[in-house]
Amino acid sequence: MKYGLEELTKEEARYIGEMIDGIVPHEVDADEEEFVLRVENESGEIIGGCIAEAFEYRWARMFLNDLWVDERCRRHGIGSMLLREVERIAREKGCRVVTLGTASYMARPFYEKHGYTVFTTLQKPNGYISYSLVKYLDKDTPEYVPTDNSGSRFRLSFGNDDDAEAILNGLDAYSEAYEQKSETADFNKKLPDADGNFAAGVIADVDKGELGSVDALFVEEPLRRKGLGTYLLKEAERFAKENGASMVITSAGDWNVGFFKKNGYSVRGELRDVPKGHDCYELYKMI
Ligand SMILES: CC(C)(COP(=O)(O)OP(=O)(O)OC[C@H]1O[C@@H](n2cnc3c(N)ncnc32)[C@H](O)[C@@H]1OP(=O)(O)O)[C@@H](O)C(=O)NCCC(=O)NCCS
Repeated sequence: MKYGLEELTKEEARYIGEMIDGIVPHEVDADEEEFVLRVENESGEIIGGCIAEAFEYRWARMFLNDLWVDERCRRHGIGSMLLREVERIAREKGCRVVTLGTASYMARPFYEKHGYTVFTTLQKPNGYISYSLVKYLDKDTPEYVPTDNSGSRFRLSFGNDDDAEAILNGLDAYSEAYEQKSETADFNKKLPDADGNFAAGVIADVDKGELGSVDALFVEEPLRRKGLGTYLLKEAERFAKENGASMVITSAGDWNVGFFKKNGYSVRGELRDVPKGHDCYELYKMI
């Protein structure tokens, strides 16, 4: 087959997501769900909040994507209150783990107090370390009550898009003091077959000068084992390198990790028994 890379359409990107979703073992039969939590002060102003998402491996895993407390209100138990509520909702939905990412200048000790453990460490080119943490909700971890819990008197409720924006802005302002936001470039490409139909596709991006990331890679079943996946992966790596990245990261499950290992990827972290009976891997390759 002659390779000719083309731009992936939005519909094709969605199709790849659906096909991968069909392959990955899942625990709960449900669509992904994002929600926002907000804590407000006596005047009704948002003073903290978080954005979380139940979806990976169909609700085996809840992602706590963003957690923020207003600088003036930190260390009064508000972050802990939000974290406990995310865990409560996760349990209610049937998720077995909550995972999240934090940077070395952020809040790793805060999460460890709540029973989270590091399962992936990534030394970033900008000098900071990025950690992934997990809490297995079915393990008996005693509830952590902060020394100063005076913030637990504030009202916690579900939030809306405006609250999500306030949370993201708060986090951006905090992170900017430590690390510059790098520019991102997408690499969303496909290979058409001889008739011009979709044969394989990759969804990847790069933080310029830093890190490439392969988010999805899919080859139509009859065309597998012919080198298409390897070709697309290498093209994504080439794109990352051209944009100044020295490393590419991706994740895989025990059902497809062999493909990435053959392509030179090493394990940097492992999430056991997620989804049930399987292990998940965080992978990297120096380029
Ligand atoms: C991290 C954050 C959400 C925690 O919220 P909070 O309301 O300040 O936390 P709590 O008051 O519930 O803290 C509970 C315990 O964790 C400790 N803690 C809180 N933040 C901490 C941090 N960044 N580093 C170390 N310990 C921390 C508290 O001192 C307290 O410990 P104690 O019970 O021994 O006194 C908040 O500080 C924040 O918004 N930070 C900036 C953004 C950020 O880092 N977000 C997390 C991104 S992953």
